[in-house]
Amino acid sequence: MVTASCCGDKCTDQAAGKNNNETAMNTTMNDLLTRRSVRSYTDEVPPMEVIEEICKAGTYAPTGMNRQAPIILAVTNREVRDKMSQLNAAVFGMDSDPFYGAPVVLVVLADTTAAMTWKEDGSLVMGNLLNACHAKGLGSCWIHRAKEVFETEEGKAILRDLGIDDTKYVGIGNCILGYTAGDYPEARPRKENYVYWIK
Ligand SMILES: Cc1cc2nc3c(=O)[nH]c(=O)nc-3n(C[C@H](O)[C@H](O)[C@H](O)COP(=O)(O)O)c2cc1C
Repeated sequence: MVTASCCGDKCTDQAAGKNNNETAMNTTMNDLLTRRSVRSYTDEVPPMEVIEEICKAGTYAPTGMNRQAPIILAVTNREVRDKMSQLNAAVFGMDSDPFYGAPVVLVVLADTTAAMTWKEDGSLVMGNLLNACHAKGLGSCWIHRAKEVFETEEGKAILRDLGIDDTKYVGIGNCILGYTAGDYPEARPRKENYVYWIK
């Protein structure tokens, strides 16, 4: 974006830059307001470049003291995805797929020894992932019980196979993603008194 203030061509560029910036801000606001949790997916795996971009957005979340305590396991492998679904379901004692058929799961874990803020950091990564999915036209949903899954021997083995220290990392959440099947959910009303102003 051109930031110099002058006249002639540069002024035009500056005005164009401002407009583009405003458009980008409106798009961001719109994405934040319209993202919803999707609970029905097609089997189609989105392109790897798109999943990589979504992961990149996750890695740019703010972290306490910039310690970057979280990590993301980007699971596009069907067998591993199914295994994680089974482990997740077992925590809850359910027999259906807790990932609602989504073909991809991005698991966020955080290094509890890296920063006191590991849980907050991991949650912000989750937020970025969910919003990035929406910005890329994909459905997503936070699925819980990542903590319990990676406390099991099978969960720990998945970490160890990747060279991750299973004694340091705790699961934060699973961001499932894919193409939405059916209608896109509507937002439910916001509660009264969500915001208290002190002006
Ligand atoms: C910490 C957390 C855990 C969640 N766990 C689940 C879950 O296990 N299964 C699920 O279907 N949705 C889960 N959700 C999604 C919420 O149910 C959803 O965000 C909420 O109903 C609001 O809907 P919205 O995301 O469409 O605005 C979770 C959300 C958060 C923030």
